Amino acid sequence: MSEISFLAYGLGAAAALAAAPSLRQRLELSMAKHPSLAGHSRLARRIAALVPYYAYDEMRFFRADGAPDEIAARRRAGFARLSALYGERYARSAALTAEARPGISDLQFTSAYRVPFQFGRVVREHLPVGAFAQATDGPFIVDLDDNRFYDLTGSYGVNLLGHEFYKSCMAEGGARAATLGAVLGAYHPCVADNARRLRAISGLDEVSFHMSGTEAVMQAVRLARFHTRRTHLVRFCGAYHGWWEDVQPGVGNPVHPRHTYTLKDMDEGSLRVLRRRDDIACVLVNPLQSLHPNANAPGDGSLVDSARRAHFDREAYAAWLARLREICTARGIVLIFDEVFVGFRLAPGGAQEYFGVRADLVTYGKTLGGGFPVGVVCGRADLMKRYREDRPADICFARGTFNAHPAVMAAMQVFLERLETPEIRRLYAGLDQVWNVRARALNERLRGENLPVRVANLSSIWTVLYPQPSRYNWMLQYYLRAAGLALSWVGTGRLIFSLDYTDADFEAVAGRFLDGAAAMQRDGWWWSDPAVTDRRIRRGILREMLAQRF
Ligand SMILES: Cc1ncc(COP(=O)(O)O)c(C=O)c1O
Repeated sequence: MSEISFLAYGLGAAAALAAAPSLRQRLELSMAKHPSLAGHSRLARRIAALVPYYAYDEMRFFRADGAPDEIAARRRAGFARLSALYGERYARSAALTAEARPGISDLQFTSAYRVPFQFGRVVREHLPVGAFAQATDGPFIVDLDDNRFYDLTGSYGVNLLGHEFYKSCMAEGGARAATLGAVLGAYHPCVADNARRLRAISGLDEVSFHMSGTEAVMQAVRLARFHTRRTHLVRFCGAYHGWWEDVQPGVGNPVHPRHTYTLKDMDEGSLRVLRRRDDIACVLVNPLQSLHPNANAPGDGSLVDSARRAHFDREAYAAWLARLREICTARGIVLIFDEVFVGFRLAPGGAQEYFGVRADLVTYGKTLGGGFPVGVVCGRADLMKRYREDRPADICFARGTFNAHPAVMAAMQVFLERLETPEIRRLYAGLDQVWNVRARALNERLRGENLPVRVANLSSIWTVLYPQPSRYNWMLQYYLRAAGLALSWVGTGRLIFSLDYTDADFEAVAGRFLDGAAAMQRDGWWWSDPAVTDRRIRRGILREMLAQRF
C-alpha cells in the first residue's frame, strides 16, 4: 500500500468511526418512525401534493364499489328520499349556509372535507348541511329551522358539563367582570384565585394564561427549549397539538418543521431515541392518542374504506407514560402533557390523575374557559421562568394582548368553583364505568341488529368503527343527522358526549343511532362483495388517481 493510500485509508476509517454514533442515531430515528404516512410527514406532504382532484358523476356515485344494478337503484332511491328530507327539513339553515359560504373560508374548508372528495360534489349538492344554530337546550342543539338534535359535537371538546352549565358560567363570569370591562394588563382579582386553584389541580408551581390551546402548547415548547438549550421537540405519530408550525408536520402545513421528531407511540424504538439523542428539549403527549395510537384524528373526509381502528387500554397507556416519565427525568427532557382536549374530561385532576403519571408542564384549554376561549400552561417553577437571573438579557418572551381577559378569567373562576361542588364531583364518580357500559350496550345492539357499525371510546370521547370493508361508511353521518343527531364536520370520526347525559338521554341517542344505521343498511349502502378487502378498495382508488393523472 502506498503511503498516500495508507493515509487515505486511515482517514476514511477515522471518519467512519467518528460518524458511527451519528449514523446509529439516524438509523434509530428511522426505526422509531411509524411505517404509515402519518409517521413520515415529509413524504406524506409530497404524496398529498400529487393527488389529483376528480369527482364521481351520479352514475359512479352509487356504484363506486361495483355494486349490481339492483343495489345501485336502492341507494339512488334512498339518497333521493334523504335529499328530499334535507331540502324540506333544513331549508333555512341550508340557505344561510349557501349564502355565507363564499365569504367564509373556514366554511368552505369544512364543507369540502366532510366526505372523501370523490363523493363531495354530489353530496354537497343534494345533502347540504346547515352550519348555523340558534340555540341550545340541555343536550339539544336547535338549528334555524327549529329542528332539535342531540348534540354530539361536544363543541370540539369544550362542552364537558352540558350547555346550560356553560351558559351560566358565561353569564356569571360576564357579570363578575362587568365593572372592569376590557381592561387588559391589570388583572381582575379572580386571576389570583384561578392560579391558586390550577396549581392545586395540576400539582405544579406556576400558571400562565393564553388565548387558545395552540398558544399554550407554543409557550410550553418554547419554555422547554429555553431551559434545556436544546432544539427539538418530540411528538407522537398522529397526535394533534394545535395548528402551530412545529407541532403539525406533514399535510396541512406548507413548510416542513426542522426541529420536530415524530416518533411511534408506545414503542421501544422511540424510547431508545429519547435515551440517546442530546438535542431533545421536550416530549409532547396528547393522551387522546391512547384511543388510537399512531393514527391521526379520525374524520369522515378520509374514511375511504373501513380501516379506521381504535381501542383504549388504560393500563398499557399508563405503563407507557410511566416509562416516558422515567426516561425524560433521566435525560433532562421536559415531559409535557397536552391536556387541552382531555383535561377535566377523564378526571378532575386530568390525565395526570387518570393515568397516575406527573408531567413537568401541562397545557389546558377548551372547557377550562367556562365557555370562553382560553389556553393555560401549568408548570414547575424552574421551567416556567421567562428569564435567567444571571443573564438579564436572555429571556423567553411570551405575551399576548388578550391573555387573562377579565370575562374569560371570571368565567374560568366560575368553572373551577363549580368543579368542586358535590353535584359535579358526582358526575366523575364511576365515570369510565358509565361510558364503557353505554358503549358496550350500544355495540351489543348493533351486533344484534346485524349492523356493520361499532363504537370505541375513551370515556366520553367516542369514535365509530366499521367492521366490514365498504366505500360508503361516511354516508352514516347523513343518516344520523336525519335521525336527529348532530355531529361535527369530522362526522362519525368523533362523537363527544357531555357528562350531563342521563341514562334516558343516552337511551334516546342509542335509539336514534340504531335507526340511522338501520335506514342506511336498508338503502343498500353496506352491500358488499365478500371478496372485497380494505386493501383492494385502496388499490382501486389508487388506480383511479393514476388514471386521472396520466
Ligand atoms: C390536544 C390539543 N392540543 C391543542 C389543541 C389546540 O387548541 P385550540 O384549538 O384551542 O388552539 C387542541 C385542539 O383541538 C387539542 O386537542
